[in-house]
Amino acid sequence: MVLKLIALFSFLALVLIGCTETPNPADDPNYKSRPGKKIYKERCISCHGSDGKLCDSGAKDLSRSKMDSVSIVDIITDGKNGMPRQGRYIFNDEEMSNTVQYVKSLRE
Ligand code: HEC
Repeated sequence: MVLKLIALFSFLALVLIGCTETPNPADDPNYKSRPGKKIYKERCISCHGSDGKLCDSGAKDLSRSKMDSVSIVDIITDGKNGMPRQGRYIFNDEEMSNTVQYVKSLRE
């Protein structure tokens, strides 16, 4: 009986967790990847500014950044100090690559 109850509660917990997890829009086969500029406007502009130079909340000047693409992916995915992780707002690899390219396009 106790085992059955434990099983039931674990099942309910799994269902609840499953329901609260936000679905990834890119799982839809008709999903169209967003351009880097759009993602940047939505997720990055508040700290980095439209030209990358704003440096709000201790953000780094992206127009002067020399960071390589792999590290840019890492900092977007995992965040660092005042930079919050942004990975879950970028829905697939194409969008990540678009974002990295856009960040690099802000360089002088
Ligand atoms: C809440 C403010 C905030 C937001 C939003 C934000 N960043 Fe940042 N970003 C920071 C801070 C703070 C740092 C400096 C982190 C450190 O090295 O201490 C940083 C650093 C970076 C760097 C490293 C630059 C270098 O040369 O060291 C890159 C690249 C970057 N951000 C890209 C992005 C992108 C792309 C987005 C949107 C997807 C984004 N950031 C959103 C605050 C933010």
